[in-house]
Amino acid sequence: MMLHIEQVLTKQQVAQCRQVIDAAEWIDGNVTAGQQSALAKRNMQLPEGSPAARQTGEIILDALERCPRFVSAALPLKVFPPLFNRYAGGQSFGIHVDNAIRAYTGGNFRIRTDLSCTLFLAEPEEYDGGELIVEDTYGEHRAKLPAGDMVLYPSTSLHRVTEVTRGARVASFFWLQSMVRDDGQRTLLFQLDTTIQQLAAEKGHKDAAVVQLTGIYHNLLRRWADS
Ligand code: NI
Repeated sequence: MMLHIEQVLTKQQVAQCRQVIDAAEWIDGNVTAGQQSALAKRNMQLPEGSPAARQTGEIILDALERCPRFVSAALPLKVFPPLFNRYAGGQSFGIHVDNAIRAYTGGNFRIRTDLSCTLFLAEPEEYDGGELIVEDTYGEHRAKLPAGDMVLYPSTSLHRVTEVTRGARVASFFWLQSMVRDDGQRTLLFQLDTTIQQLAAEKGHKDAAVVQLTGIYHNLLRRWADS
């Protein structure tokens, strides 16, 4: 499932993030690429663990914890510290798949990448190109979202970023390991939770069907989740 999550960051938070990262020193993006993707990748990145990346990453992680739609869709177990990239002057990232296991440079933190996240930090009008294109069995899906919005997609997907021909595309990207490894199971849980929330809004949380369905949700989660 590919999911658009609106307004993870407010415009004010986006401005705050941009102020910090725009003033920082950027390096060649190939530092985080695997062998195959290094051939396809042309962009700039903030060094992993740099003060600007840490400070801005904290803002993003705090915002995600307070975003019910993200928590419901991702069921996060471990979230990789957010990284930041910038594409300009014809830069792009050709078709690739993200590495299955990601270790954080200089730390003992390691995750299995179940979901890939891109949080847009530039408005779509600020640049031409720079679309994220994700391929699955239903074809190609495109994302170029307002600043502060995020897209979540299975890390198993082939994906690419088209050439930026005007302006600069600035974004945060990271991965997470979900409590529910299987994308199909995770999608069902998200759909069930969303339906329960809609029903509860109509009938109230004490409604007998809402209580029953909530029980089923938790029993499925208990069956499928690792914590
Ligand atoms: Ni990628």
